[in-house]
Amino acid sequence: MIMPIRQFQAQRMQAPRNFQPVENTPVCVEIGAGKGKHALLFSGQHPELKLIAVERTREKFVAMQKQHGLEGQQNLTPVHADALPWVVHALYPAQVQQLFILYPNPEPHNPAQRWLNMPFFEFLLSRLQVNGTVTLASNIPEYIEEAEQQLKEVWKLPYEKQIIASDSARTHFEIKYLERGELCQQLVICKPESYSTRFDSFQPLNGQNAEPADVQ
Ligand SMILES: C[S@@+](CC[C@H](N)C(=O)[O-])C[C@H]1O[C@@H](n2cnc3c(N)ncnc32)[C@H](O)[C@@H]1O
Repeated sequence: MIMPIRQFQAQRMQAPRNFQPVENTPVCVEIGAGKGKHALLFSGQHPELKLIAVERTREKFVAMQKQHGLEGQQNLTPVHADALPWVVHALYPAQVQQLFILYPNPEPHNPAQRWLNMPFFEFLLSRLQVNGTVTLASNIPEYIEEAEQQLKEVWKLPYEKQIIASDSARTHFEIKYLERGELCQQLVICKPESYSTRFDSFQPLNGQNAEPADVQ
């Protein structure tokens, strides 16, 4: 499949600080996990699945790590990193069973930074198993509409659009938006069997391209 979008420069991504490689076994991944409410719930409800929850903001990551320390789910790994370099360094092709992006920043002044508008999304799709899913939730109808348009025109992927029940409480942002009476929706995107990307043979960089150590 030819993707009508600029190619993501995966090989240029520097390794995240304190990078830890990941085993090549099936995993679920959450990007922008915040304080980890969904990650903790999901890993508790699905002991048979492994979940890696990635969060870039230190204070939120620390809150997730602290709560994880109290609850102790063995199948959850919180990671403090920017998801772009972390995914490129850590994940193998077709490794991911389910990917969650719940209530991402809407990037009002920078549409190119929205997940489905980024060339990086093609790389993410290459990490997804056949029949693997991406769940993208938002309280902003225009965000969902734009993502749907990208799915049809650029990514050519099937999806289901769902309305989130008003008593759902998977994340801190979901609780806040539903309490305000806002409509929360999600797209559950599925990767079909015949789907291919330009990164299907790209192996994880596994910590190559690390920043040079500071000279003392
Ligand atoms: C609006 S918050 C939503 C947090 C959580 N999913 C929730 O619903 O409560 C978006 C989160 O995504 C994180 N984030 C944004 N870009 C990221 C990236 N490139 N890598 C990792 N985390 C990211 C932000 O730090 C922030 O915590």
